[in-house]
Order: sequence, then C-alpha cells, then structure tokens
Amino acid sequence: MREQKRQWWKESVAYQIYPRSFQDSNGDGIGDLRGITERLDYLQYLGIDLLWLSPVYDSPNDDNGYDIRDYHGILDEYGTMEDMDELLEEARKRGIRLVMDLVANHTSDEHAWFIESRSSKDSPKRDWYIWRPGNEGAEPTNWECAFGGSAWEYDENSGEYYLHCFSKKQPDLNWENEEVRQALYSMIHWWMDKGIAGFRVDAITYIKKNPAFPQLAAADGRRYAPVEQASLNQEGILDFLRELKQEALEPRGAITVAEAPGVPLEQIRDFVDETDGVFTMLFQFSHVDLDIKPGGKAEFTDWDMKKFKEALSLWQRESNRHGWMGLFLENHDHVRSVSKFGDDGQYRDLSAKMLAAYYFLMRGTPFIYQGQEIGMTNCPFDSIDEYRDISSLNLYREETAKGRPASEILDYLGKRSRDQGRTPMQWNADREAGFTSGTPWIKVNPNYTEINVENNMRDEHSVLQFYRKLIALRRQYSALVYGFYEELCEDSADIGMYRRIHEGETFIVVCNFTADRVEWAGLTETLAGGERVLSNYETEAQGSLRPYEAAVYRWAAAT
Ligand code: NOJ
Repeated sequence: MREQKRQWWKESVAYQIYPRSFQDSNGDGIGDLRGITERLDYLQYLGIDLLWLSPVYDSPNDDNGYDIRDYHGILDEYGTMEDMDELLEEARKRGIRLVMDLVANHTSDEHAWFIESRSSKDSPKRDWYIWRPGNEGAEPTNWECAFGGSAWEYDENSGEYYLHCFSKKQPDLNWENEEVRQALYSMIHWWMDKGIAGFRVDAITYIKKNPAFPQLAAADGRRYAPVEQASLNQEGILDFLRELKQEALEPRGAITVAEAPGVPLEQIRDFVDETDGVFTMLFQFSHVDLDIKPGGKAEFTDWDMKKFKEALSLWQRESNRHGWMGLFLENHDHVRSVSKFGDDGQYRDLSAKMLAAYYFLMRGTPFIYQGQEIGMTNCPFDSIDEYRDISSLNLYREETAKGRPASEILDYLGKRSRDQGRTPMQWNADREAGFTSGTPWIKVNPNYTEINVENNMRDEHSVLQFYRKLIALRRQYSALVYGFYEELCEDSADIGMYRRIHEGETFIVVCNFTADRVEWAGLTETLAGGERVLSNYETEAQGSLRPYEAAVYRWAAAT
C-alpha cells in the first residue's frame, strides 16, 4: 500500500444538507439559511465538522436550485448573502467548514449569460452554450436528456436548438469556449475568497460532449437514446478537468468531492490520485444504482446484498492504492437507505445502525445525509400529485402517455423517486415535524411522531446515538481513517465483513445483512482476541450473528 498523506479532510465527517427540506425559519414552508444556522448546535452535537450545502444560489428552481440564475446571489426563499455570511461564521465558530455545490455543467436558462446567448446568433456569448441547427426539421440529434424527452430545445427567435443534458431550463455551458471556463474559474475564486473549504462538484463528468455530435442507436421502439452516451466522461474531458484544477482548485487548496457517474474504476487515478488526480474525493454510485436495469427506462433488475457488497468493495480495494472516496448511502437524489438495504419495519432501528457501521468505517470520508442519522425512511406518497421532483413528474407523464399503467410507475417512484430523500427533516413530534410553522413545500413523512431528532436525543440507544459513537470511534483511531481495507467473508450474501489495518492496529467490522440468525464457521476464530468496541446489540454474539447485528472489534498494536 502507498502511504496516504494525512489530511484534515480525510479525518473529517461530513453532513449533507438539502436546504429546502432542512429547517424553515420564517414559516413559508421552505427551509432556509437561518434555519440551518439555528441547527448548527445540533450538527455540532452530532459531531460532524464538514457541511455540504446543496445549492442555495439564486435560481428559478426548476431543478430545486441545480439551475443557477446567479452564481453570486442567494435565492430569496433561502435568505440573503448576509445570512450566508452569518452561517459561515457561526459554522466556523463550531469548527464546521462549508462545502458548496459547484454546478458548472449548466446554468439556468434565466442566467444573464444564457439570456445574452439566446438574444441573437451574433451575440458575443452565443458560443457560451451549445447551439445547433435542426436536422431536416427535427432535433439536431436523437439524444435524450437525463430527465426524459429530447436533450435539444428549439429556440423560435434564432431557429436553432440548444443542448441540455438535464431539464430544458438547464442549458449546457460550452466548455470548449475558453471565456466560459475563465468565467467559471473566477466564480470559484470568488467563493473561495468568502472562506468556504471547497465544493461538491455537480455533474462534472458531463462537461465534454462527443465533438462529432453523432446520432445514437436507440433501443427498440424508442426514438431517443440517453445523452450520456455522447456526453458522459468523453475522451478529452481530462484536459478540461486538469485546467480547472490548475487554475482554480489547487491554488486555493479547495477540497472537492466529484459527483462522477460514468467514471470506471481504472480511472480512479485520473480523478482522485493524491498527486495526479484532479479532485480530492470521489462519489461513485454503483452501490445505490444496482436496482435499475442498465439502458432500461424506469425498470428494475434483480439485485441482492452480495452485489451491494461487491460494488463497494471494488472501489475500496482500489482506493488502498489510489485516491480517496466520499462514502455515502444516501443523498438528495436517492431513497432512504434503511428502506432500500435494510428493513424499515420491525428491524428499522437495528438495520439502520448496521448499515451505518458497514459503510461508515470504510476507507474514505463518510458523508451523512440529513435524516439518515435518525433512521428516516421512504415516505408513503399516495398519488402523483404529492411528488415535486421534475424527473419523477416527467417520468410519470411520459411513461403513462406511452400506455404504461400508472400503478407501475408509482411503484417505481415509491422505490426510486428523488423525493424519497427530500421530505422534510423530522425534528420533533410537533406539527409538520417541527420543520415549519407553515405548509411544507413537500409532504412530511407521517412517521415523524415516532422518528424524530428529539426522540433520538432522549434515547441513549437510538440510531442518532449510534452515529455519534461511530463518529467518536473514527476520531479516536486513525486506523479507521488511514487503515488498509481488506474484505473478509467475500462469498457470503448475508454477511458483510472487512478489516482495517494500520501501523499494527487492526479493526474488523462485521455485519449481518439479514433478518435471520446467520451462522458462519469461521466467525469465532476470526474475532478471537478482539475487543468489541461497538455494536448495535448489548451482548456479545456467540458463534452466530443475530438479525441485522453489527459489531466492530479491535486488536491493539503490539507494544
Ligand atoms: C446531480 C444533482 O445531484 C441532481 O440533483 C441534479 O438534478 C443534477 N446533477 C443536475 O444538476
């Protein structure tokens, strides 16, 4: 193993806030910056020291802020730049650093750059976005945007089409244009000047398009093919990324966690190698996307916990040599982990803790998504009218129009919709879970009377307390940060188990992924002599693992 340099951000524990759903301070039903500031003491109590804020920039909110109208302004609903400064300052006082979302693949169509670009074919900013003439009266290519429908939008004024990999209100910037890149770099410097620690880098693997703009082969019966085939991690992207690093990120010591779908394992070095890589950390998605059929349209595929284990282990093993992972089970684009990988009924409490132990002590910097630390679950949405997410609504409209039964799409959304992770944070048992005194912009999960922060704080055996113990443990033992990762019990679909080794000290994390008692012949022997430093059960296991049992064992270095 190559020794990794010690870095503060490797030792950090991060927390992601989706501002719209975290805490409303003014009764308009929408979370805001002051709400976040009010809750900093809670985050300090939890023990995190790094905060990733999903976008709070000025935005028409077509994609909840991932469509930025002004990189230097704050959306009214969230507050003002003074509120942002106050949040930064209050966070700093509590030893918490801030990471903003860097959305650089696209802007809003209401951004001044795009308004100028669309004003005429001769506009000096025309080339800042990707414009093409139509192809025999149709879109330039048959690319389908990530949210459904053509990736091209026709502009009456100029008779041309512009490209959008996401919604039509998110036109893609043209990274081939040097002025665009320079404008983005200066925006990055501006935010670094404010004192943030760095960025979570949104959709960054989309910035390079296939320069031939080819027609793509669509699946049977389909008109369009996913834009990703011509815009995800395309050849030449590294030239852009390396320049971004050189001109903006590295000179400022910005920490970065790249959202990097489409990056194969072999490229981990290019993206996050300690010396040669562009970013400091990487989010990979194979473990959370294993339930969907590749190339399918809202279709599931068979999966089990063995695949889940394999997806994580693959990257873990590689990261022993190169790079650093951002570890996560949930975010604002995904469902609640206890509902997906655990049991959100009878064993909610045990399985939420088990999942926590499993991912949190892997090699990388752990990210907790708001509500995950209290074991929040998926929400029973009763009809399509309760959904808010643009991609869920588009999917429902398009697929039912094609004749798929509404019940089938609703079932899919129940297990996949991004809104599952976006219901308001459950603070207490008061009305609307203490999130707002008004009407929340999206339904509160009815289980808030039981699952909420207040209850979790009161109960010394709660999921929240388990997270606090995990954080304390990781802070106490550097082997849990820097240790070599080695998978154990690889062939089992029921048991997840790994070892972390560092400077003679060893830890083993062992988890039962099932609701049954699981026997494993080598268990007692493997754990012999280890001190049990954390578990979700009071008493020690004897030769077998109880339902959703998780335990962490330690062997001190020989003195
Ligand atoms: C990834 C973000 O996480 C998601 O919420 C957003 O819709 C897309 N990128 C487009 O910005």
